[in-house]
Amino acid sequence: MSKKIIVTGGAGFIGSAIIKHLNDERHEVFVIDNLSFGSRDFIDIDDNHFFNIDILERDQLMSIFTEIEPDWVLHLAAIHFIPYCNQHPFEAANINIQGTINVFDVCKKLQNLERLFFASTAAVYPISDHSVDENHELRPLDIYGLSKLTGERLAREFHLETGVSTVVCRFFNAFGPNETNPHLIPEIQEQINAGKRTIQLGNLEPKRDFIHTYDMARAVISLLKSDINYDVFNLGRGIEYSVREIVEAFERELGENISIDQDPSRMRKTDRMHLLANVNKLKNAIGWEPEWNIDQGVKTLIKK
Ligand SMILES: NC(=O)c1ccc[n+]([C@@H]2O[C@H](COP(=O)([O-])OP(=O)(O)OC[C@H]3O[C@@H](n4cnc5c(N)ncnc54)[C@H](O)[C@@H]3O)[C@@H](O)[C@H]2O)c1
Repeated sequence: MSKKIIVTGGAGFIGSAIIKHLNDERHEVFVIDNLSFGSRDFIDIDDNHFFNIDILERDQLMSIFTEIEPDWVLHLAAIHFIPYCNQHPFEAANINIQGTINVFDVCKKLQNLERLFFASTAAVYPISDHSVDENHELRPLDIYGLSKLTGERLAREFHLETGVSTVVCRFFNAFGPNETNPHLIPEIQEQINAGKRTIQLGNLEPKRDFIHTYDMARAVISLLKSDINYDVFNLGRGIEYSVREIVEAFERELGENISIDQDPSRMRKTDRMHLLANVNKLKNAIGWEPEWNIDQGVKTLIKK
């Protein structure tokens, strides 16, 4: 059945992938986004369904939400690139915590709300050499992870107060089209699409659990349709890839060799060596399996 859905941060990287699936299923989608990182061009929705609003503007949120009376709210709007958050800790904390309080407060006034979805992050976990499941200790390393952990607590409190079904999803490293932040894969993609076959990168050793936004969106939509009352899920591929393995996937797609120059100016001073999701809980709850491997994902990024 078609739902009325508000997506905050819907003009961003992951939001735009989710909205494509929601549009395919003919839901009525409304987007709140101040376009600080996202782009209006990423999403195919009418102008009267798009609100260029800052989530810090509580009164404006209140009038839009109560006018629309959505069935589902997906709260994705956040400042999320970790180096940017570290450089702008007050802005990151303000948007990710105060903005989230505003969105949830407004949701408490809604009459028909069936489901709230909150985008959290793997950054709530401490450094670990092994895969992490949802019961793993929570100990963020930075202001971004801390702000998202606060968001998780606020989501729990929202559910306890309202009884509205609430899903918290800890996203691992997304990749795919419409990337808005200079993460590793878009760095590689940009240099390769500019014709370079010797590319400059920072730290080469860290491994990450890269999941394509196509598979992420499929999982989010299944979670929205499930009968979960309140729960927290990891959302990753369940496989770790090194920087070199990602570059090799680009090599296979191009059929050409690529060499890497390590550029000290791109290196993060501190970085996790591993970040790997245990996604058994998600798979068991909704029967989801990722469909795309790294090569299929990389194919969506290369301009030939
Ligand atoms: N990309 C990842 O790998 C990843 C990993 C873990 C968690 N997440 C989380 O998933 C969500 C989406 O991330 P993304 O990668 O699509 O990032 P993104 O930056 O592309 O999307 C966030 C969107 O929120 C909007 N926004 C930011 N501040 C706002 C404000 N004050 N008011 C209104 N809109 C605002 C931006 O313009 C952008 O369109 C975020 O909550 C992020 O923390 C992402």
